[in-house]
Amino acid sequence: MRIVHLSDPHFGTEQPQVCDALLERISELVPDLVVLSGDITQRATASQFDSAHRFVARLPEVPVLVAPGNHDIPLWDLGRRIFSPYGRFSERFTLPPFAWSDKGVQLLALNSAPRWRHRNGELALGRLSKQLNELTRTPARHRIALFHHPVDCRRHQDRHNVIRDAEGICRVLNDYGVDLVMGGHIHDPLMRTSEHLYPSLQPTLVFLLAGTCVSSRTRVGAPNSFNLIDIRRPGQEMMIERWDMERNLGEFHPVQLCQFLKTETGWVLGEAQRPDHPDRRSLPVS
Ligand SMILES: [Fe+2]
Ligand SMILES: [Fe+2]
Repeated sequence: MRIVHLSDPHFGTEQPQVCDALLERISELVPDLVVLSGDITQRATASQFDSAHRFVARLPEVPVLVAPGNHDIPLWDLGRRIFSPYGRFSERFTLPPFAWSDKGVQLLALNSAPRWRHRNGELALGRLSKQLNELTRTPARHRIALFHHPVDCRRHQDRHNVIRDAEGICRVLNDYGVDLVMGGHIHDPLMRTSEHLYPSLQPTLVFLLAGTCVSSRTRVGAPNSFNLIDIRRPGQEMMIERWDMERNLGEFHPVQLCQFLKTETGWVLGEAQRPDHPDRRSLPVS
């Protein structure tokens, strides 16, 4: 099962040449599924959602699952924000919560951007348990939670952007057998296990954030990027690869590859390869 993880395209600030390079690379990678972890638009306007929808229509013909972000709720249009915060989103995409399953892998899409606390995000624990109780009735060997706001971050200065009560959320996700938590929001990619920020959390989870895939709103040291997840043995092993846009070549290239393995205490980092490692190989195209 190969999954392409995109995030934060912020349509309205997209770079057409990056969109073209991304679409070309994704079609070469032959994914089984594409997921988008929020901030689909810059200001939640109809034309920005239309651009996003046209972009999605150019992706390979596989399921595309989308979670909303804080930028997908109208900010100044108070009427729309109160009465129909996800109206434009749901006219074009399925609004979470929902589950998708195939080949023993289940993806749980959640909405972490409620209309008032949308900036820093929220997943109320009681409601989350209820939703997961419903969604996880289908048996699965490998579960992935997808929502916009991060439960971890690489830079200390971004800690205030981590979703409220992230550790509590991770405990609930653990109760329902989640293996991997995917998100975005801070435009700074990350892949690591939960032990770094939550050493007492058992079993350990894998956290994965993607940078912005096509927006000009990149941060210093974090160019446009996306992740490729290869679940070779569901519930036992996954490989995760990060691809960055290399401006001078005009193409996306793999820059980081990590293997994660499931042990008795949860997920651990197996082999990690630096991009300049002499044995470095990208995930083979299936
Ligand atoms: Fe964003
Ligand atoms: Fe965001």
